[in-house]
Amino acid sequence: MEEERLSNMEKEVLIALRDRGGEASPEELVEKGMEMVKVMNASSWLQSKGLVKIREGIEKSYSLTKEGEKFLKEGLPEKNLLSELMKGKKSFEELGEGESVGIAVGWLKRKGWCEIEKIEGKKFLVITDKGKKAAGEKSAEEEVLKAIKEKKEGLDEKVLQMLKRRGAIKEKERIVRTIYLTEKGKKVVDKGIEIKDEIVQLTPEIIKSREWEKKDFRKYDVRAFAPAIYPGKHHPMMQLIKKIRNIFVEMGFKEIQGNYVESCFWDMDVLFIPQDHPARDMQDTFYCKNPSGMEVDKKLLDIVAEIHETGGKTNSKGWGYKFSKEESKRVLLRTHTTVNTIRYLIQHPEPPAKIFSIGKVFRRENIDATHLPEFYQVEGIVYEEKANFRELIGVLKEFYRKMGFEKIRFRPAYFPYTEPSMEIEVEWNGKWMELGGSGIFRPEVTEPFGIKEPVLAWGLGLERMAMMILELYDIRELYFSDIEWLRKLPLL
Ligand code: PHE
Repeated sequence: MEEERLSNMEKEVLIALRDRGGEASPEELVEKGMEMVKVMNASSWLQSKGLVKIREGIEKSYSLTKEGEKFLKEGLPEKNLLSELMKGKKSFEELGEGESVGIAVGWLKRKGWCEIEKIEGKKFLVITDKGKKAAGEKSAEEEVLKAIKEKKEGLDEKVLQMLKRRGAIKEKERIVRTIYLTEKGKKVVDKGIEIKDEIVQLTPEIIKSREWEKKDFRKYDVRAFAPAIYPGKHHPMMQLIKKIRNIFVEMGFKEIQGNYVESCFWDMDVLFIPQDHPARDMQDTFYCKNPSGMEVDKKLLDIVAEIHETGGKTNSKGWGYKFSKEESKRVLLRTHTTVNTIRYLIQHPEPPAKIFSIGKVFRRENIDATHLPEFYQVEGIVYEEKANFRELIGVLKEFYRKMGFEKIRFRPAYFPYTEPSMEIEVEWNGKWMELGGSGIFRPEVTEPFGIKEPVLAWGLGLERMAMMILELYDIRELYFSDIEWLRKLPLL
């Protein structure tokens, strides 16, 4: 089994290691005629299979600088001066003032090879006993310089450091690697390894020459290690939006868009939401200071005012309060995308229409694990003759089924603009999650604008659905921009 998963190069490395008693440096293997890149490549594969290990260490090597070469050829300056002093003491006048003299005197004193004596006001350099002894011998530095020149190893570390400081030698660090067989590797080798001439990669040449007929193929190893690659992709929210768009288009819907900034009139009044509705409160809605008002079509405004106050020509009695046209003109960030579909309907009252819209809405929510003040809604309507409640349920079920949710249920709900109204819930990990609202638009919303057939409508939250699909427990994770998480996320 193991053997089948080894390439010929890997086998060659294993055999070479066995022949050298279980370990070798890559350089030794290269000497046997293998290529360095191939040796290293095969070794790291073998390492990932647990058959070898690669040990790394640092090795220092030294070479002579120009200065070092000069020391070796002409002698160390202090040694040269020392031989002069063997002949007798020297006054500083005689020595002169060159830089090299200064260096030589410095070293002589430091090594205790000479002393300075003052005789009749004149300074003299006098050799010591230690100096006399040193003059007859090669100094440790000279030995080491010579050894470096001769490429010898195992030199005295203290002397090396001193020569380095004197600028006589250069130090170089090198990583040395040793490849050695693991226990598992030894077992594989002991079982016997056979190097077969097999085809590793099929090329047009091999096919044409019919060479493949005579040879074995290397078995494909799906368990082989391969580095993870994270190609660029869209943010999961964008992927979901694309998927939802495709689903609705597939189901025969047309997409529309709208604006973030709307008037109260379009966001709420046309939808028969009473002006004192709690959702209009500052708690729920972001109103704009600037501009604080927006022009609204006068004719439409009159119609809507009448509906709210008395119900107009519909069978409704309206809300029975004094409608404020000023309130209608207030500016806000849209609180739902139902504003898009209702405007489309009023502007296109001729049936049929199947419309959807995906966009952000804004509400004054406190941020927590399941709430954001800014989130996406998936809005839609079906407007056609004989459209009914069963069809509404069917469309929503179909949409969620295509998104991968099989279990969905509807519960009675209330919205001022639909009757009947339903909440949609989806089961995920054994729990029911509320995902959105739906219903059939009330006559107060449709009749005054000549919308004569039933309108099925829904508005669904996208982030909650995304949480379930991505298995998140906190809605905020969707927008953390955690690059690691984004990278590892599979395509949706
Ligand atoms: N607009 C509602 C919301 O934001 C959802 C909804 C849309 C309900 C259409 C009924 C019809 O929650």
